[in-house]
Amino acid sequence: MTRILRTIAEVRAWRKTLRPEQTLGFVPTMGALHQGHMSLMQIARQKADIVIASIFVNPLQFGPNEDLSKYPRPIEKDIALLGEARVDALFLPPVAELYPEGASSVVLEEAVSTHLCGASRPGHFRGVTTVVLKLFNIVAPDFAVFGQKDAQQCLVIERMVRDLDVPVEIIRGPIVREADGLALSSRNVYLAPEDRAAAPAIFASLNAAKAAWAAGERNGARLAEIGRARLAQEGRITPQYWEVRDRTSLKPIETVGPEGALFAVAAHLGTTRLIDNLEVSG
Ligand code: PAF
Repeated sequence: MTRILRTIAEVRAWRKTLRPEQTLGFVPTMGALHQGHMSLMQIARQKADIVIASIFVNPLQFGPNEDLSKYPRPIEKDIALLGEARVDALFLPPVAELYPEGASSVVLEEAVSTHLCGASRPGHFRGVTTVVLKLFNIVAPDFAVFGQKDAQQCLVIERMVRDLDVPVEIIRGPIVREADGLALSSRNVYLAPEDRAAAPAIFASLNAAKAAWAAGERNGARLAEIGRARLAQEGRITPQYWEVRDRTSLKPIETVGPEGALFAVAAHLGTTRLIDNLEVSG
């Protein structure tokens, strides 16, 4: 059974009960767990002696007109899934535990976070880095696992950990997809049936650009055009960005070299915003 810890003091007391040689793996989440999250739990389970997850819908990473209030919170189902995955402990703090009245310190990453989702969601990554550093300070894991679907989030957290000497190894878990290619996301539950039917075009657009790259196209702008054109075939999708970027800095790439590139897309289906990405290299 997964032990539920609701306060920072409870997590720290639980942490002290672990033996010094036991490794601790951590999977931070916002809940509404799906098979993508479960694959991260599995990675942690395989690598660590003890596994802790967190569920915290972090208000600091939502913009004023985003979906904070309607974000799904199926907590009983989530707890059951964590039990099935043999996760040892769950940190489930109330908002006031992480953001007490008067909290006025934040963590800023100022390069990688400015691109892509950082440009379309101002303040989002400031919220992510702040809460993730807090969670790392509370849980003190040996490593933490994040999903590659949020490729930019992985890069921002890796940069923060490097720059601030945080003694936590960051591990990326691969994207998990539905049979038709749609990347698993807690937000997929918002999709109306017609939008759900249209959504695989996002992955299809990434694959169209990958096919062109595999056939020898190396011009970043042309590869992005190919991806955008494939996405535009699905009239229900409103793209926010479709970009070919450096896999580390996220800066635009004119010519894709052997180090490869990240193809990254964000798009709206109705009021739901979805992201996806694909890396090419070689
Ligand atoms: O990816 C998420 O679910 C969140 O951004 C995270 C890393 C748990 C921080 O709130």
